[in-house]
Amino acid sequence: MCGIFAYLNYLVPAKREEILRILIKGLQRLEYRGYDSAGVAIDSSNNAEDSVSDIAIIKKRGKVKALEEEIAASTQSLDFDREFNCHIGIAHTRWATHGEPSACNSHPQRSDPNNEFVVIHNGIITNYKDIKTFLEKKGHVFESETDTETIAKLIKHIYDTKNEVNFRQLVEAVIQQLEGAFSLVFKSKHFPGECVATRRGSPLLIGVKTRYKLSADHFPVCYSKDARHSDKSTSNLALQRSDSTTEFQPIGPNREVEYFFASDASAIIEHTNQVIYLEDDDVAAVSEGALSIHRIKRSIDESTVREVITLKMEIQQIMKGSFSSFMQKEIFEQTESVVNTMRGRVNFETNEVVLGGIKDYMGEIKRCRRLLFIACGTSYHSAVATRQLLEELTELPVMVELASDFLDRSTPVFRDDVCFFISQSGETADTLMALRYCKGRGALIVGITNTVGSSICRESHCGVHINAGPEIGVASTKAYTSQFISLVMFGLMMSDDRLSMQQRRKEIIQGLQKLPEQIKEVLKTDEKIHSLSQELYQQKSLLVMGRGYNYATCLEGALKIKELTYMHSEGILAGELKHGPLALVDKAMPVIMIITRDNLYPKCMNALQQVKARHGRPIVVCNKGDAETQSHAYKIVDVPYTVDCLQGILTVIPMQLLSFHIAVLRGYDVDCPRNLAKSVTVE
Ligand code: F6R
Repeated sequence: MCGIFAYLNYLVPAKREEILRILIKGLQRLEYRGYDSAGVAIDSSNNAEDSVSDIAIIKKRGKVKALEEEIAASTQSLDFDREFNCHIGIAHTRWATHGEPSACNSHPQRSDPNNEFVVIHNGIITNYKDIKTFLEKKGHVFESETDTETIAKLIKHIYDTKNEVNFRQLVEAVIQQLEGAFSLVFKSKHFPGECVATRRGSPLLIGVKTRYKLSADHFPVCYSKDARHSDKSTSNLALQRSDSTTEFQPIGPNREVEYFFASDASAIIEHTNQVIYLEDDDVAAVSEGALSIHRIKRSIDESTVREVITLKMEIQQIMKGSFSSFMQKEIFEQTESVVNTMRGRVNFETNEVVLGGIKDYMGEIKRCRRLLFIACGTSYHSAVATRQLLEELTELPVMVELASDFLDRSTPVFRDDVCFFISQSGETADTLMALRYCKGRGALIVGITNTVGSSICRESHCGVHINAGPEIGVASTKAYTSQFISLVMFGLMMSDDRLSMQQRRKEIIQGLQKLPEQIKEVLKTDEKIHSLSQELYQQKSLLVMGRGYNYATCLEGALKIKELTYMHSEGILAGELKHGPLALVDKAMPVIMIITRDNLYPKCMNALQQVKARHGRPIVVCNKGDAETQSHAYKIVDVPYTVDCLQGILTVIPMQLLSFHIAVLRGYDVDCPRNLAKSVTVE
């Protein structure tokens, strides 16, 4: 949902070509967040030696590649060889919300034709119409349809009307007028060498690269209203605490430093692993190489420091390697990602399961009135997949909710509820809003995410990190199986003191142990599924049916088919077949049925017969060696048998592979399906 990236080098000489390369690379890493247009703004003056002031903006409709080509074609006007000691470049890849994808609507947006202020934005400004009307009355002429342009024009308006304010104070004045969600990075020709960034509701982190390890592990925050001191003295924080109490400066003989601002860590990790996550309403300013983090006023209970985090992510984790797409790589990574999810948490000898992030809260969780699992899309399906097991192991009422619908209904929530928020990105706006809604009503908040430092992580009381590794493909695959396992582990932890459940726990834990090998087996069906997709890829529609533990596979499989292949697809609960969906079945309609050997097997076979009686030709995902089921199928994909509640992990993988192959055969970009973005930070 838009990726923002900015780079500032201070006393680290770099040619313009290198700076543009860094910006483009940053955008490529963030492209999964939006890919309908992209743009950069850089210092442009070629004349004055050090007082660079003009700003050049280059924007292009289409993917980052199109922008890269546009830049390459501008070699002459951009003077690639010009070297800068200090330079600020800001860059953006867009997922359109206000205004169609076009160069004009893409970011950076500017204050005026002289590019006095430029800004990049991720989020939505809900009161932009009011601000726009106000600014139009003051004579500002708008050129785009975006909400973001109001921000660029508003900062210029404040600059023109206020005297003696610095860049950071201008941004503080702007954000006090904004409603909605944003992460923003500003650059201005009036403040060369400076850059200001802020956020509310959308993610933003700062990477700091020096030749030295940061000597401080916390940055103190400055409060404009408390501070009562000049901006440059005690409120400046950079890289090393100086003698005075809150002052930090770059270290090293030349005080050289590079800063990277980004929507997420994948764009930063190849430069530095030292990052600071900004909190809502933080305003981070860099001036003369020193970074300072400010807040307008201080509220009770808030942290007055920002931690400097050392990321554990490796660059290889965000590279495609020998795979044709990130999605394909992530499907094949599941043999390892499930191991990482369980590592250090499941003891296969003693049958103990400990989730360190929630263990201190287990007493409270066990005493709760009900468990609520709230999420969107694929993450929601992981809760559907495990609901039955959680009901069985916890003996508590379990509600599974789509975040948007949960909020639309103003669902009653109580102090003795425990609310789980499942999110790969940890930034999904609907899920985050639902979290705040539940937190405000006193419930215990548990975050289940794949992104350390994300908003959901930080706003939860406790949580589980699913450890699937970075997921770059827009369609979620390995995060789903890791969320699934995380929820199973939670159920096992909840039932560790129930004597009557020890046998069941044991069989599930043994099942978990075998999963990586069994996933490897399933992945061997890739060639077979490729052939199947050749038969299916020209179809208009595809139905996926199943029930019980496999129902979530139907929902998730149909979602994968829809989002990647743009075919119509429906996940159908086989028990509902005769209440309507059976009317869709005829000999032309492709039907996939998930039928494994669990206690619902006879009922699934009834559904199979009903489909066959309507001349349907069911492709059946079933257990290896199940000759009886296979004899009724038109085609089969067989997966190893595992304990009923884990079977969904093995049956979903053929659906992931099928949607991948169909999309490739149809000529679509599997990593960037049309109209979608990875991290949905708008409601
Ligand atoms: C589908 C998909 C989406 C996400 C949904 C929630 O493949 O990826 O349905 O699952 O947008 O995203 P997270 O899990 O980041 O909250």
